[in-house]
Amino acid sequence: MKSPAFAIKDLGKVFLDARTGSSLSVLDGLSLDIAEGEFVSIIGPSGCGKTTLLSHMGGFLRPDAGSVLYKGAPVLAPHPERTVIFQEHGLFPWKTVLGNVEFPLKARGTPSADRRREAGRLIDMVHLRGFEHSYPHQLSGGMKQRAGIARALACRPEAVLMDEPFAALDNITREIIQEEILRLWSELGKTFVLVTHHLEEAIFMSRRVVVMSARPGRIKEEVLIDLPEPRSALVKSDPRFTALKQRLTRSLREEVAKAPAPEKGLQQEPAETGV
Ligand SMILES: Nc1ncnc2c1ncn2[C@@H]1O[C@H](COP(=O)(O)OP(=O)(O)O)[C@@H](O)[C@H]1O
Ligand SMILES: [Mg+2]
Repeated sequence: MKSPAFAIKDLGKVFLDARTGSSLSVLDGLSLDIAEGEFVSIIGPSGCGKTTLLSHMGGFLRPDAGSVLYKGAPVLAPHPERTVIFQEHGLFPWKTVLGNVEFPLKARGTPSADRRREAGRLIDMVHLRGFEHSYPHQLSGGMKQRAGIARALACRPEAVLMDEPFAALDNITREIIQEEILRLWSELGKTFVLVTHHLEEAIFMSRRVVVMSARPGRIKEEVLIDLPEPRSALVKSDPRFTALKQRLTRSLREEVAKAPAPEKGLQQEPAETGV
């Protein structure tokens, strides 16, 4: 394995539960290394701490125990080299799509002609051509999410951390963006971490799928995805793909069964999760 981009050691996080006033151990003894240039997906039952883990990697939360290192240095705050794409698109409501995508380029001092060209390329990539001058409130949920992905990529990050970024997209758009993101990953050689509860998506996109346990979340197992690359949607009918899906479904089901009852109700419908 190449030198780790992320080295997470014995990470622990405790939240105060506002409902009960008691403390909630969300992550406990979680250790995970992610190599530079790797594509890793993280799956786990709803409420097991996936977003909490990603927030630590993005620098939005500080550990209560253990450590999160990026290229050998503790992650203490958010940084443009590690961009996070959350479930919520996070666009500036007062800027158009183009304005939003150009923003990180402008902040970096990219000359205006180059900025326009690069923003245009990213807008094409997420299939928003024709909506450059629309404001977020004029877009559907899926379109907002796609604009958010384009803006995140405009930061030219070294590491892209994604928290269920495709959940609001219809299936066709989702597949197109999955393939585009994979193409970008192999072109750019950056580190990609994807939290998803869509098993097929996790297998299709990753070199490694990491399964988290029921809360308090830790790493239950890591499965190497040794399917051929570059991948196209055809790989989903490969018998090895089906075998990996069955194996991960079993593993995830065991953890879902252990999750507290209210969390089970939050699982998506079976067709979506494959669970
Ligand atoms: N800021 C917070 N304060 C209190 N509890 C939180 C906070 N963030 C998350 N939690 C709780 O921590 C648990 C794990 O949350 P999360 O990381 O969002 O899980 P996942 O992304 O796996 O669904 C949940 O029970 C959630 O309610
Ligand atoms: Mg989450």
